[in-house]
Amino acid sequence: MNIAKIGIAASVLLFSIMALAPVSFGHGDVTPQAVDTTGLKPLGEEWLEENPYTFEKAPDQMERAIEIGCSAYNSNCARCHGLGAVSGGLAPDLRVLEEDADGDSWFIDRIRNGYHQNGVTKMPKFEGLMPQEAMWSIRAYTNIRPDDDDKAAVKGTGGNCQTLDFEMVKKIELSDDDE
Ligand code: HEC
Repeated sequence: MNIAKIGIAASVLLFSIMALAPVSFGHGDVTPQAVDTTGLKPLGEEWLEENPYTFEKAPDQMERAIEIGCSAYNSNCARCHGLGAVSGGLAPDLRVLEEDADGDSWFIDRIRNGYHQNGVTKMPKFEGLMPQEAMWSIRAYTNIRPDDDDKAAVKGTGGNCQTLDFEMVKKIELSDDDE
């Protein structure tokens, strides 16, 4: 087997594992995946309330943030919120969360603390399991995913992290035609 074939076999395997995840993990029974945030400038100890990763605020960090966010989302959140951030109905669709400051603080509160109802963990807390750079990267990723399901299925827009095309994503984001 040459390197390319091994790569393909590995991604096929990874995909099958991801596809099986909703079946093999119970609700709330989550194995958190470590997130490598190398390449992002440290955000410091203080928790931010607003997403630092936007094309306006940090254009030079966006490519790496979206790449990290895609992978971190798909290994930690997708089993409930849906592969590629397209919800299957188990948990809210994160693409439609408001992209403003209110949405940011709602997002960071949920991911840090999780969500518990009548003593049942509906969503686990991620504080202590991943740094805020990883959390905000996930926010950057769900923000760039088109809200429209047809557009979200277009290759390159981040439904699949392997084929994510940053130039395409940037063009869509900066051209305002994504609602
Ligand atoms: C075990 C399933 C599960 C996992 C894993 C999970 N969530 Fe959730 N999440 C939920 C459920 C269920 C809700 C809805 C809670 C409610 O009723 O408000 C939710 C709500 C949210 C909300 C609020 C959405 C809204 O519209 O109000 C955000 C933001 C969120 N999750 C982010 C994440 C992120 C980011 C990850 C991964 C790091 C993640 N979740 C992992 C189950 C999960």
